[in-house]
Amino acid sequence: MREFLLQSRTGYTSPDFRTLMDAGRLDIVYQCALMALFKSAAHRNDTIFHAVLNGPPTPPVHIQISGAELRDAHIDERSWEKILRNILGGKSHPGIVVDKTPFQKLIKQKSEAGYTIFVLGDKGDPISDQKLSGNMLFILGDHVGLPRNDENFALRYGTKTSLGKEKYLAASCIDIVNYYIDQA
Ligand SMILES: C[S@@+](CC[C@H](N)C(=O)[O-])C[C@H]1O[C@@H](n2cnc3c(N)ncnc32)[C@H](O)[C@@H]1O
Repeated sequence: MREFLLQSRTGYTSPDFRTLMDAGRLDIVYQCALMALFKSAAHRNDTIFHAVLNGPPTPPVHIQISGAELRDAHIDERSWEKILRNILGGKSHPGIVVDKTPFQKLIKQKSEAGYTIFVLGDKGDPISDQKLSGNMLFILGDHVGLPRNDENFALRYGTKTSLGKEKYLAASCIDIVNYYIDQA
């Protein structure tokens, strides 16, 4: 299983927003979910995407989306705006679970479950040196990056892993990691 965890510092935790971008950059959550879970004309059935939202009014909110179980989801932003508004408003959607698990607790749970943890950052060890197999969790920050205390916490459980010296969009990082694993 491959899993991705996005720490969204500002993503809104209520359905009251005009656009995803206005909602504390929920557009990044949408872009990352798209890159994590969709291939051309198919879902990635071995992949789960997590986002922990830390914006107003009731943080944290943990969203877990399973590629194998996701239904009724197209790839366009308008569809995901509707899905995110619905689930933040308490409605259900097939393949999506919403709870209050905080970022650090989720990492601890995954480590205890035997996952290999990679903390994505441009100054880490090259991903090409890593063994990419088994249950893996890849952690990344939003447009601002991972807060120092969260990164330090995650590094107690995992390895800082780089995709190169350029700084990429969070969604691009997920796409690159998926490509590496697909080749492995
Ligand atoms: C848009 S970047 C954040 C940029 C932010 N200004 C910073 O310095 O962290 C979002 C996330 O993508 C990941 N990332 C970006 N470039 C990377 C790279 N070259 N290698 C590994 N991870 C990268 C990191 O996890 C980062 O927190």
